[in-house]
Amino acid sequence: MTPLSRDRALEDFTGLVLLPEVNQSPDPQAVYDRLRKQWGEIAPVQLEPGIPAWLVMGYREIIQVARNDRLFSRSAANWRYFDTLQNPESTLAALMTPRDHAYYANGDEHRRLRAPLDDGLDALDEHRISRETQAICRELIATFADHGEADLVAEYAVLVPMLSVARWFGIGTDEGYRLTEAVLWAFSAGPQSQKGVEIIIEILTNLMQSHKDDPADDMTTSFLRHDDLRNDIEVAFSIILVIMAGYQATIAWIAQTLRLILTDPRFGSRLRGGRLGLDDALDEVLWRQSPAANMVGGYALADTEIAGQRIRKGDAVFLCYAAANTDPRVHSDDPWLAIGNRAHLSFGTGPHVCPAQRPSRIIARIGVETVLTRLHDLKLAVPADEITNLHSLWAVSPESLPVRFSGSA
Ligand code: HEM
Repeated sequence: MTPLSRDRALEDFTGLVLLPEVNQSPDPQAVYDRLRKQWGEIAPVQLEPGIPAWLVMGYREIIQVARNDRLFSRSAANWRYFDTLQNPESTLAALMTPRDHAYYANGDEHRRLRAPLDDGLDALDEHRISRETQAICRELIATFADHGEADLVAEYAVLVPMLSVARWFGIGTDEGYRLTEAVLWAFSAGPQSQKGVEIIIEILTNLMQSHKDDPADDMTTSFLRHDDLRNDIEVAFSIILVIMAGYQATIAWIAQTLRLILTDPRFGSRLRGGRLGLDDALDEVLWRQSPAANMVGGYALADTEIAGQRIRKGDAVFLCYAAANTDPRVHSDDPWLAIGNRAHLSFGTGPHVCPAQRPSRIIARIGVETVLTRLHDLKLAVPADEITNLHSLWAVSPESLPVRFSGSA
């Protein structure tokens, strides 16, 4: 292990790995192992070339950071590299630029902005959202069912979460497609990113106006009526947060589970033989390859120390849930021990823990189940090692999942 470097600032380290390349690599877990050997439970990495940050990989250390918002602020206004977010070519801006919603808030302000999310999500009718998600999955499968082949990422996994979550707000399928395209643009760098943001704002402005004129039993009306949201901007940003926060992670959860079933014969046969239920399979993915691989833990408000490493005021601290779940101090390689065990950190921990664990599981479960039950003799159309991962700072997710099938139900 590299000796502790108390006197070295983040900027003093050279040759650091780029985090999006770790997520893109065929075996991110092997990279975490190497980083652990070199640095221990927290390693210096780069978010983009020349932009360093700390990556916390230890299970206990992640809990230490995620539960301490007095020391680690969620607002990038406290980041030494805040100006990077003004660069239109930077891919960091979409998820790191502070906005008026819970994700970037701390303490009492976070509690105020979080309450409408918890109330709105708790009030969702699970039977209704299951039915809606199932209808969406069937409609999508119908678009390629006669072709005998499909890309289960581009033609399916990318669309299921957005079209489903859009329904929670009263956004129909056609507008849901427009929203999906706009969100994909907003996540990218360059001029498209701004165009994506403008389309999202236009869709939300119309949505809020129509709900003011004609209230409905959905999350848009729930947010508009909530005492804790003070104005239309906070309502709009809270809707954006729910739409965007789990988007990539839910795509990754569906796509990773399908990949595991299609590429790991032991896994597929345990599922077909009834020794593993679909929820167990989804949990195994949460343990083995956390869909939300990394998130911003915060920006240090004062000098401090984590796992013996000196963190300076203004440093960005990223939380690597994907590494924490395989932390040898908490994880066993025996898959049977993972069954029924949900102590993984894939949904985060502390005040910002994912508020959508139940509804996102409904989307992921129905997303995977509908493919497995409707497409007959489903097989991967390319060798497993030709499936590459996305170049993404946040998620580990297959870029495409080409499949063949003999017919459909
Ligand atoms: C429909 C799907 C989803 C929605 C609407 C959703 C929504 C949200 C929201 C609004 C937050 C921010 C909460 C806050 O800052 O107080 C959040 C946080 C989080 N979500 Fe989800 N989520 C979804 C799916 C997922 C999935 C599938 C995963 C991973 C398996 C995930 C992992 C996380 C994590 C790790 C955090 C905590 C981030 C942190 O500490 O900063 N989410 N989610």
